[in-house]
Amino acid sequence: MFEQIIKTNTFEPILIHKALGSWIWDTDGKKYLDCVSGMWCVNLGHNHPKVIQATKNQLDEIIHRNKSFLTPITLKAANTVLNYMPTNFDKLTFLNSGSEAMEFAISFAKKVTKKEKVLSLQDSYLGAFGKAKESSYTSLDKTDMKIPYPVCYEESCNCLENTQLAVDEILDGIISQIACFVLEPVMVSGGVFKPCSQFIQYICDKIQSDGGLIVLDEVTTGLGRTGKKFGYEHLGIKPDVVVLGKALGNGYPVSAIITTSDHEAKCSYPEFYYAQSHQLDPLGAAVAKEVISVFEKDSIIEKNQSTILELNQFFKSLKYVFIEEVRSVGMIFALKLKNYKNYKEEELVVKIKDDLLEEGVIVGFNVAKGLLRLLPPLTLSMDEALFLMKKIKKVLEAIN
Ligand SMILES: Cc1ncc(COP(=O)(O)O)c(C=O)c1O
Repeated sequence: MFEQIIKTNTFEPILIHKALGSWIWDTDGKKYLDCVSGMWCVNLGHNHPKVIQATKNQLDEIIHRNKSFLTPITLKAANTVLNYMPTNFDKLTFLNSGSEAMEFAISFAKKVTKKEKVLSLQDSYLGAFGKAKESSYTSLDKTDMKIPYPVCYEESCNCLENTQLAVDEILDGIISQIACFVLEPVMVSGGVFKPCSQFIQYICDKIQSDGGLIVLDEVTTGLGRTGKKFGYEHLGIKPDVVVLGKALGNGYPVSAIITTSDHEAKCSYPEFYYAQSHQLDPLGAAVAKEVISVFEKDSIIEKNQSTILELNQFFKSLKYVFIEEVRSVGMIFALKLKNYKNYKEEELVVKIKDDLLEEGVIVGFNVAKGLLRLLPPLTLSMDEALFLMKKIKKVLEAIN
């Protein structure tokens, strides 16, 4: 099946051809509730009418241009994104994918600081290639620069007391060589884990006092996914660089690296020459500008709070022996499964995912981590949430 396509991953045995809001349709006309928002991208739902209209308007004007020219829409989009940030930033550039922007951010931090080492957390997923991949859990490269961390959702806790000595031991010998600490506010791909905020604050303080930068990977957590505008607002830190992707284009490939002129001044052009065909393209900028404007004008994050609460209560109420743990942050939900009856954990993951697909619900899964994961659009209606809960109950009951 699909023999003309290079097998970069497995494919479901259906073809999908249309999408609107939280739903997608296959070529037989069956519809599915998309609880993974594409690739965690359509926080506003598929084919959001205002975003589609802005895209069509821009298509009629100009899609692409030579990198030596800028367009008014690019400048407007830059201002819109910068004004939307909760802490002070005054510089950005638009790129295309999260991986590309993360790679740019790491390289930017190295140039600014004239240092080489990159610190990350175990379980991070930061990109598909380069240094971002090397610093991710998916890389086979074992490096002691990926440090363990306590998972914690409390405001006051003992995590730091319990871990400070170990962190000091790791950092003290190398801190002067660290260009940046690169982190996701919630390790979503890595298993849905929120690192302890006190622990993160401690590391950030140490690194920033020694001239290193804090690079926040908000590719998945940015734009409302965690219940706030940005995931770093849960951590009480002040990043030097923020990277956005996925939801910024609501399905269109546009990403952004956001920083300050103070940082840029330390490695300014031509030291930081960068060129690829579609950086700062007007079409991506028009999409990003409209996405942010919908977030603001339609109070997407505020309106999503009651759905988050409802779904959170539902998932936390699931008491089945084959569910080892329920993890959630904002509109991110995960069920960690375990062996049950004749099913191995990984078989159970695939079975539940397949049974839900049959029932018209698409969920994410990670076989190796024994995990089912749901990141529905933030625009999911209460009726759609009820549909989802009913289908999950039905599928889990049948296994029980
Ligand atoms: C936290 C995080 N960073 C970076 C990336 C890479 O983004 P992209 O797939 O757009 O290259 C991803 C993708 O899942 C991600 O979750």
